[in-house]
Amino acid sequence: MKRLFILGVNGNARDIVDAVRLLRARDPSFPEIGGFLDDKAASDLAVDGVPVIGPIARARELADAVFVNAIGSPESYGTKLAIIERTGVPESAFISVIHPAASASPSAIVGPGSVLLASTVLGSGVRVGRHVMILQACVISHDATIADFSVLATGVLLSGGVRVGRNAYLGSGCSVRGAVRIGEGSLVGMGAVVLEDVPSGETWAGNPARCLRTAA
Ligand SMILES: CC(C)(COP(=O)(O)OP(=O)(O)OC[C@H]1O[C@@H](n2cnc3c(N)ncnc32)[C@H](O)[C@@H]1OP(=O)(O)O)[C@@H](O)C(=O)NCCC(=O)NCCS
Repeated sequence: MKRLFILGVNGNARDIVDAVRLLRARDPSFPEIGGFLDDKAASDLAVDGVPVIGPIARARELADAVFVNAIGSPESYGTKLAIIERTGVPESAFISVIHPAASASPSAIVGPGSVLLASTVLGSGVRVGRHVMILQACVISHDATIADFSVLATGVLLSGGVRVGRNAYLGSGCSVRGAVRIGEGSLVGMGAVVLEDVPSGETWAGNPARCLRTAA
């Protein structure tokens, strides 16, 4: 039996634990939780009954292991690729976790290492890349694309055909107009109403959303 190790000990990680427990109740062949890997948490800690095994670099020593990343806050989302690389394990060792109460069109695609939490809905033709985190109650309308390493916080609404670039962060409750592009590495603040393209690396917020900070 494969064991699933979660990168990071945080709220997202605990939500992933809940999702995996529900998935295993339906399908016992889904990997069981092995533990958390975290560079800062003490290794004698257990959260929700799940032990912290050690730092992320321990990943390569673990046998029969698969992984998923839970790290990606508004402060840390830019480091997701580096965190995943720090495991030293091949890309094929990452699996996606789709909460049983998420709903995806049969024509939607979700890449490996990505997470969909409860009540999220993916419409027809939606494409979600690798290592994307989509928290609860997001609605991703038809033909939207979300590129690798991006994060959608709770309650994000993407209209049809929206394109989210790599490594972007969309804050809680923001809404994006149809066919708009969110640039690579940009951050959209909570509650924003985005009516036009957001250039790469910028922070936008407000209704209508405006640039708060340009790329460094
Ligand atoms: C956009 C954001 C990154 C800005 O954070 P910040 O750089 O610390 O900015 P500040 O709080 O210093 O605010 C700077 C200005 O932007 C405004 N502002 C900040 N966030 C805003 C938002 N979401 N919507 C509208 N205005 C916002 C502030 O009122 C302030 O305006 P002022 O200069 O006129 O006083 C942050 O507020 C945000 O929305 N983060 C996402 C949080 C989130 O979704 N978390 C999900 C966890 S599950």
